[in-house]
Amino acid sequence: MTDAVDMRVSIGALELKNPVLTASGTFGYGLEYDDFFDVAVLGGICTKGLSLEPRHGNAPARITETSGGMLNAIGLANVGVEAFCTDKLPKLRERGVTVVPNIFATSVEDFVSLAERLDGEEGVAALELNVSCPNVDHGGLEFGCDPVAAARVTAAVRAATRLPVWVKMSPEAGDLAGVARACESEGADALTAINTIRGLAIDIHSHRGKIANRTGGLSGPALKPIALRMVWELSRAVKIPIIGIGGVSTWQDAVEYLLAGASAVQVGTASFVDPRAAKHILDGLASYCSQRGTTPEQLTGAMI
Ligand SMILES: Cc1cc2nc3c(=O)[nH]c(=O)nc-3n(C[C@H](O)[C@H](O)[C@H](O)COP(=O)(O)O)c2cc1C
Repeated sequence: MTDAVDMRVSIGALELKNPVLTASGTFGYGLEYDDFFDVAVLGGICTKGLSLEPRHGNAPARITETSGGMLNAIGLANVGVEAFCTDKLPKLRERGVTVVPNIFATSVEDFVSLAERLDGEEGVAALELNVSCPNVDHGGLEFGCDPVAAARVTAAVRAATRLPVWVKMSPEAGDLAGVARACESEGADALTAINTIRGLAIDIHSHRGKIANRTGGLSGPALKPIALRMVWELSRAVKIPIIGIGGVSTWQDAVEYLLAGASAVQVGTASFVDPRAAKHILDGLASYCSQRGTTPEQLTGAMI
């Protein structure tokens, strides 16, 4: 009887059919997972981070498994915004997928150009600003760790588009609440939290880093308690909705994030373990809500 549950959630003015999305960089451009399930049933998909020009990313090895998670230093390899708009978006639109492009740039001007390019495209539900990538030399953490810089990017993108603007928080920001409030006051519609935390893994035989970049972003279950705590703190610092990310692998994880104050969650690394993870999490959450006679919206912030 799970279809009786109203799974819709509001992220500001945007209504999503349910609170389970996929996280940027872990679900390609969405249709790669079409053989496994109908990705249009999800609340949305956040694309791999898009830049103005295509990028090859960092040299391999770019990922390695760690206890409780993985490290990645992909370096934002992507097809570029133009190819996304012409090759990927029309298929997603046709299939009724809720698409949230994740965008990345090394300057405020380029963030604006990306937002302007995507603004005119039918089928884009919101933009997610990646100001928190730990794996590139310029334009990643510089924006996301400094309230003034984060505010500048948010304000410029806000002025350049009518689309809802989501800003992705870095766990490495010393003053996370300050960054969050700066983004909120410049018109961000929602915060997504969190991106990966820098980690290191060393091969004891070669004495080299296990990934070529040496450090990489830690994701997966190891991140969850930290991310959950940050979502909880953010929910007290701002009034705009928060979308929780970090180690969401089961529907129980999703429930925890909602209770901590998230309005929705994104599933990342779990899709590498099970390509149907997001669908399983959605089904499990619906059945939990049905059994308890509640809705995801009622669970948000309900931790006692
Ligand atoms: C291989 C890989 C690539 C990623 N690429 C991006 C990206 O392009 N943009 C972004 O904002 N986050 C990126 N992320 C971060 C994820 O979206 C997410 O914030 C992080 O992995 C934590 O969630 P998880 O523990 O569920 O994986 C990437 C993560 C992984 C593992």
